[in-house]
Amino acid sequence: MPEIAYVNGGFMPLEKAFISIEDRGFQFADGVYEVVATYGGEPYALAAHFARLDSSLNALDLALDIHAYGLQAKLMEGLALSGFGETMVYIQVTRGVAPRRHEFPVKPVAPTVIMTFKEAHRLPQDMYQHGVEVITTPDLRWKRCDIKSISLLPNILAKQQAAQAGAFEALLIDADGQVTEGSSTSVFCVRSGCIRTAPTGPHILPSITRGVLLELAHRLEIPVAEEFTTLADFKGADEVFLAGTTTEAMPVIKIDGDPIGEGRSGPIAQRLRAAFMQEVGIA
Ligand SMILES: Cc1ncc(COP(=O)(O)O)c(C=O)c1O
Repeated sequence: MPEIAYVNGGFMPLEKAFISIEDRGFQFADGVYEVVATYGGEPYALAAHFARLDSSLNALDLALDIHAYGLQAKLMEGLALSGFGETMVYIQVTRGVAPRRHEFPVKPVAPTVIMTFKEAHRLPQDMYQHGVEVITTPDLRWKRCDIKSISLLPNILAKQQAAQAGAFEALLIDADGQVTEGSSTSVFCVRSGCIRTAPTGPHILPSITRGVLLELAHRLEIPVAEEFTTLADFKGADEVFLAGTTTEAMPVIKIDGDPIGEGRSGPIAQRLRAAFMQEVGIA
């Protein structure tokens, strides 16, 4: 099956897709993105992803009406064309192609809209059973982490640190010693039976999976506190887990080499994972 790209109205094999070097996404990271996974061939939580894309676009004053554009129909067309059982769809919108000047183009240009369609390779089951190790690193990001910007330098540097340490993820720690989120995941801890995670706002991305897990926790009557928690309290927690579109709900068994709780995947993370799998129709 071919990996497919969509570029400004047309579909093509991924390797045939090119963008101008004067695209403001390339020059300035002046753009936003989304990653959508399919389950049973259907894009999961698409309305929530589109709502977040819309809000990221608005935050950057990037004039694209994704509904008038027909983005959903084009995404569905791409899924049908690529024909994978399960697909990861990457969507990116930039301010378009214009001579390189920092300010927005005086004469408006059409935004660049691209999508890629690749086969979804889910993480191995035993990772979910055993849990993963993470490291910590200062949160060096800007003050609008709620925008899903393609400017990801602090995130990739953090993830690279994790990779070099043989860890799955890097948790980002703000100047007050509080855990904000992972470099590409949301993060939760469980203390005295209550799930704690940073509140939405400018410090974190409003993760779609985070929202789904909190809703599932609510249904399972597991208490939730959307409050900042220090790294010390994360390390002393009974459980820690991550969430994200590609990560789903992933238990964490060590932070910086220190075991969490009993050093294995905990009951609340397992319950939430089971509920998530049921929610997406895999259980
Ligand atoms: C910083 C950050 N936090 C959280 C997430 C998880 O978000 P979602 O559940 O919408 O995939 C991501 C995903 O890319 C991310 O980059």
